[in-house]
Amino acid sequence: MTVESQWGIPSDKLRNGASIHFDLVSPDGQLLLKAGEPITNRLLEQLRERGIQSPVLHHAPRFRPEQKTAALLSNFPPEMVRQIQASMESARTSVKSLLTSLTNKEEIRLDVIQMSAGQFVVQAKRDVAATLAVLALNGKVADSEVANSLANHSANLSLLATVMSTLQKDEPIQSFEIGLAGLLHDCSLILNDEWYTGQANSRDETARKRYRRHSIESADLLNGLSGISKSVLAMIQEVHEQADGSGYPRGLTISQVKPGTEILNLADAYLSLTSPVQGRSIVPADAISYLCLHTAQGKFSRDALQLLTTSLSMYPVGSGVELDDLSEAVVVRGNSDAPMTPLVRLLHPSHQEIDLRVSDRFISRPGGPIVKENQLHHHEPKKCAADLHSKPPSTIGLRTCFRPGRMTSLRRLRRSLLHSSHSLATTSHQVKIS
Ligand SMILES: [Fe+2]
Repeated sequence: MTVESQWGIPSDKLRNGASIHFDLVSPDGQLLLKAGEPITNRLLEQLRERGIQSPVLHHAPRFRPEQKTAALLSNFPPEMVRQIQASMESARTSVKSLLTSLTNKEEIRLDVIQMSAGQFVVQAKRDVAATLAVLALNGKVADSEVANSLANHSANLSLLATVMSTLQKDEPIQSFEIGLAGLLHDCSLILNDEWYTGQANSRDETARKRYRRHSIESADLLNGLSGISKSVLAMIQEVHEQADGSGYPRGLTISQVKPGTEILNLADAYLSLTSPVQGRSIVPADAISYLCLHTAQGKFSRDALQLLTTSLSMYPVGSGVELDDLSEAVVVRGNSDAPMTPLVRLLHPSHQEIDLRVSDRFISRPGGPIVKENQLHHHEPKKCAADLHSKPPSTIGLRTCFRPGRMTSLRRLRRSLLHSSHSLATTSHQVKIS
């Protein structure tokens, strides 16, 4: 969804005769000037008379979410989309059935869940972008029913981790096991639902310690069942272990966990940022940048981050972006060798496809437009965006984030972080511990 946003602008920067591409509103929300209309001396006088020194530029989405969905899905055969959606629904249903069995202390059967994990492997191999598009459209987790939230998150985690494993060219059995661990790892939370829904920062030390055992308890519940291997049980236990040993429950480092765990850990973090059970989500491109920062600090596996950006791109499939000419588009497919320049489709009814890798156009920002003072007088979006991008974030150790030769230029990555800096600086969102 295109993000509604606003920026303050000093009134002394407004010039008679210039037009603005956004609504100009007073600090208390009153419309002063409609987008596209010229600034007049009368308006400037009114601002002075009313003592408004910093009116607000307001950008509202020009397109409805349904238009983004239509533009995104127009890229894929409807039958393929339908099959992936059916697999997602089947996965959610199978996880909910397992949770019901656990709650009622009934016999646990894993055959339907295994079938779902197998379907995800098939879908991921067939078309990664279509799979991710469905994930983007069906990624909502929060639900008044804890079982629904758990099932939604488990299905999302399984599908994304399966895609990442497939792109890593894992054997199908390995991708299957990673996907299966994703579907199962949170199952014990249904027996302690307050652990899942309660605010993490409100838990006392005892509750925190208990919560941090949920992956072990999930593995204990499943241990000994037919169709679940030791490696799947190990990955279930290790989903929340982090590369630098700061995770839980055992504080293992990346060298001590199963192959596949690092994928699950990063996928879980990405999904928790973009679709949390509680609290505000952040836009997918900001989540990727957030994970870049924490990978640079050693929190996540660099290889897993490469896989995530290869599969999703720096502007994840399904996310809204604004191009340099202020047109709005949706990312429909990542370019695996150029994660900063995905394929997009305009939200304009033409749904024109643009491969940004070979186009002069570029993404100016995720969600909303970039606005700089000089745009108010002469609209030069390319120059404006280039100015902004030329200032590198000085504190970000991106050289430690990606392996040499496996990512496009550092400068391009910095662009993405600059896009995100406004929200990263203000958000108090932490990677959810779930
Ligand atoms: Fe978890």
